[in-house]
Amino acid sequence: MPTLAVYPGSFDPLTNGHVDIIERGARLFDRIIVAILVNAEKSPLFSMAERVDIARAVFKNHPNVEVDTFDGLLVDYVARRQANVIVRGLRAVSDFEYEFQMALMNRELASTIETVFMMPAVKYSYISSRLIKEVFALGGKVHGLVPDMVEARLREKQAARV
Ligand code: PNS
Repeated sequence: MPTLAVYPGSFDPLTNGHVDIIERGARLFDRIIVAILVNAEKSPLFSMAERVDIARAVFKNHPNVEVDTFDGLLVDYVARRQANVIVRGLRAVSDFEYEFQMALMNRELASTIETVFMMPAVKYSYISSRLIKEVFALGGKVHGLVPDMVEARLREKQAARV
């Protein structure tokens, strides 16, 4: 049976840490679906359409990477897509508690779906979407930490504000 994995998240915005996990997942599983949560935050910096556009552009040459959106319970989406694995990235021990809770709650809700944790390359282990937004907003450099398209879109948003 082919292994279909779902990599869920807000991806506001996609970082090179996410890209690293998706590339690893694409090597490990037959297919990986990057599932972007609708309405994760009340006021996301990137609209859903932008987040989908960016992820599709970044993975356009990866035939086994699909980009989709989902709403509601993750396990319901995973079941609807007939997937069997949830992929989550673990950057540091500090991620573990929240991820452990989510994985066990998801198992309680759907016992046949396994959560697989993957570690990004060490050089991306401190990156988060929240820090990228904060650093960029305060004039810091995010080059190399996000896909070039994300950096360009951040600049466009900044230019539109002044
Ligand atoms: O990477 P993020 O943004 O922290 O992702 C969190 C996400 C989307 C995986 C989580 O919030 C989620 O699964 N939301 C969907 C609603 C749900 O199923 N909640 C119960 C999780 S145990």
